[in-house]
Amino acid sequence: MGQRRIRTVFSILLEKSVRIGYKFRIRAGGHPKGDQVKKIGIKGTGSCVPERVVPNSYFEKIVDTSDEWIVTRTGIRARRMIEPGQALSDLATSASERALEMAEVSPEELDLIVIGTSTADMLSPSAGCIVQHRLGAKKAVAFDVNAGCPGFIYGLAVAQKFMQDGSCRKALVVGGEIVSNRLDFKDRTTCVLFGDGAGATILVQSNGAENGEILAMDIESDGDLWNLINVPGGGSRIPPSHEMLERGLQYVKMQGNEVFKQAVRTLVDSAQKIMTQQGITSEEIDWFIPHQANIRIMQVVAERLGIPMEKVIINVHKYGNTSAASIPVAMDEAVRNGQIHRGDLILASSFGAGLTWGAALIRY
Ligand code: ACO
Repeated sequence: MGQRRIRTVFSILLEKSVRIGYKFRIRAGGHPKGDQVKKIGIKGTGSCVPERVVPNSYFEKIVDTSDEWIVTRTGIRARRMIEPGQALSDLATSASERALEMAEVSPEELDLIVIGTSTADMLSPSAGCIVQHRLGAKKAVAFDVNAGCPGFIYGLAVAQKFMQDGSCRKALVVGGEIVSNRLDFKDRTTCVLFGDGAGATILVQSNGAENGEILAMDIESDGDLWNLINVPGGGSRIPPSHEMLERGLQYVKMQGNEVFKQAVRTLVDSAQKIMTQQGITSEEIDWFIPHQANIRIMQVVAERLGIPMEKVIINVHKYGNTSAASIPVAMDEAVRNGQIHRGDLILASSFGAGLTWGAALIRY
């Protein structure tokens, strides 16, 4: 009797693991015969920022700061912030719908959804699964990548790997963040810097011409520098409690000066690495999209890379630092306003909490 029960349980488990294994092979793994690496291109882009505009003058009323200080030290003039009740998936879903529309791809065609974010709607499940549900992307595998500001670059790298062997044909990669409700509006060194937003791209297999090609990716991290930017409370180390809230541990903490130095170093190194790898010189770059954290960082990095500021896509003055959303939002705006054309060579690079950094070289 006991043995029969064990056998039954074993056969159910075996059957389930075969099903899971089959699903995993089909959706996420396995090399096709011939191990041919596919070219992956960006077919559509989309973005969404909240309607509420928060100008620098707002902060003059609540902390000891000035519009002049914020503009000269950061380049930021305004940022967008969500209304109470809104969440990441609201912006990420809208951005994704716009990208799907541009790409003429339906949600049912997506095999993979990767969301670069550290501010999902809730701790669990992932924002990826919520966006999958809201889009009706029944066939996709969905998950998040928590890599701070380079979350979108990390997401592209992950999706590209899944797609290169041909097991995924169409992917949605989003970078999105709601930083505004993680800000301490009593701390002038952080609250003036950030904003909310989401940007999306649809990746497809490409012949390298029609939909361009992601030519090279670099993603890196150095956990020894985790302490430079973090949100200490609300996770498993310091779970939510009255004391956590009283000490303000739910808010972003940042050592701005040290981050500035690391930002310049990592943005330059990562960009140079992929350009060298591809034998591309800075003169060949049509558009440089750096992480939109601070105009001074962008100026120093562009100068060190030998890229003139006319080729740098900038929106930090409108949106502040939107973390993982910054590159895909800037890319989508530049595509839609006619700056970026098909065939242009785009260099994007980012850095952020982790410390993480990375770069992408994309023939659009
Ligand atoms: N208004 C007025 N004064 C301010 C403000 C403010 N909002 N913030 C700081 N100050 C003061 C400081 O208290 C300091 O005063 P003190 O000299 O009396 O001590 C003075 O300004 C200078 O402070 P610094 O920190 O040296 O100013 P700095 O020129 O470095 O600019 C900034 C600060 C903007 C944060 C800069 O260091 C920076 O951009 N760092 C990089 C931050 C970044 O990129 N973070 C994003 C990465 S992570 C992510 O994207 C999620």
